Amino acid sequence: MNTQCWIGMPVEQLPTPALVVDIEKLDRNLATMADYLARVKTNIRPHAKTHKTPAIGHRQMRAGAVGLCCATVGEAEVMAYSGIPEVMIANEVVDPLSVRRAVNLARQARVLMIVDDPQNVRDIGATARQYGATVDVLVDLDVGLDRCGARSLEALVALAQEVERTKGLRLRGVFGYEGQVQFIADRQERTAKGQDSNARLVRAAKELSGLGMNIEIVSGAGTGTYDIAGEFPGITEIQAGSYIFMDGTYQKLGLPFEQSLTVLATVVSRPSADLAVFDVGLKGISPERFNPSVQGCGAGAIEVKSLSEEHSVTRLSGAAAPKPGDKLHFVPSHCCTTVNLYDSMFAVRQGRVEAIWPVAARRA
Ligand SMILES: Cc1ncc(COP(=O)(O)O)c(C=O)c1O
Repeated sequence: MNTQCWIGMPVEQLPTPALVVDIEKLDRNLATMADYLARVKTNIRPHAKTHKTPAIGHRQMRAGAVGLCCATVGEAEVMAYSGIPEVMIANEVVDPLSVRRAVNLARQARVLMIVDDPQNVRDIGATARQYGATVDVLVDLDVGLDRCGARSLEALVALAQEVERTKGLRLRGVFGYEGQVQFIADRQERTAKGQDSNARLVRAAKELSGLGMNIEIVSGAGTGTYDIAGEFPGITEIQAGSYIFMDGTYQKLGLPFEQSLTVLATVVSRPSADLAVFDVGLKGISPERFNPSVQGCGAGAIEVKSLSEEHSVTRLSGAAAPKPGDKLHFVPSHCCTTVNLYDSMFAVRQGRVEAIWPVAARRA
């Protein structure tokens, strides 16, 4: 498809469903985060799983990021080969082929890997020596998410000692993502639980430093805890991802970020007075946490009742009366799983397409 033909076009004329990002809102989100972190003197290594889009990764670097987090080796390759100088693969990498890819990438860019298993440490080290590479490593502590990560301080210390003993690896710090806290609606509870996780991570960092180990990086946090971890003494960087786009889930927390990402959809049927059917379904928007909401329907409301592969069936109330052919913006409940459905996104300024950004790390 010659996507250039959409440049300059009013957003309402785009073929739907279309993934749309409002550049001005995106940039304001970047600036809001950067201003806050400058005040509290904490770094950001934003999670690129949210956008999978080098054009946005480079915007984050220009806004002061120290590097990017990536969910997979493929995502890290796409970001590093686009010129991002430092990528953290923020998940354990264990299968031998993926380890070789990650270690090879460390010869092209600065790569940080996270580990929670001594054998994996030895395997990455052996591959690093074979490739003549040095890989930076953070040891992963479970801070309550109950996913990966060492389950005790003793296990973490043993792991860090293994990293220190292993030629080809360089211990850089500790990693602990408090995913279980991100969406807690009550601010006080979110703060208390976030601080508890942060305290566990910082305590571990101090323990390792006390043993003479090199702990420069203490990394955790997402969008829901950015300003809890951001000002927690000892946390050096946060990994927030969704703050750039926001979504229905994060909107409920009242954070100071704007909804910059939407899916534009067209009314394709008005089967009855209170129903409208749009041309976006499960293949165009993720209902992962709950159904999407619909923006800008005047005095009325449009509630998404159900989604099938290509359709959303919505119920109209009040004065909402969209006609077949009308286009409206849908807000997904989760931005990251929605972006992953598209090969590119339309970057829009003042209602007109300014650029089309490839979601280059999609499926990577
Ligand atoms: C390791 C890690 N860091 C940070 C995040 C935060 O992402 P977000 O800000 O999108 O919630 C996630 C989300 O899943 C994650 O897995």
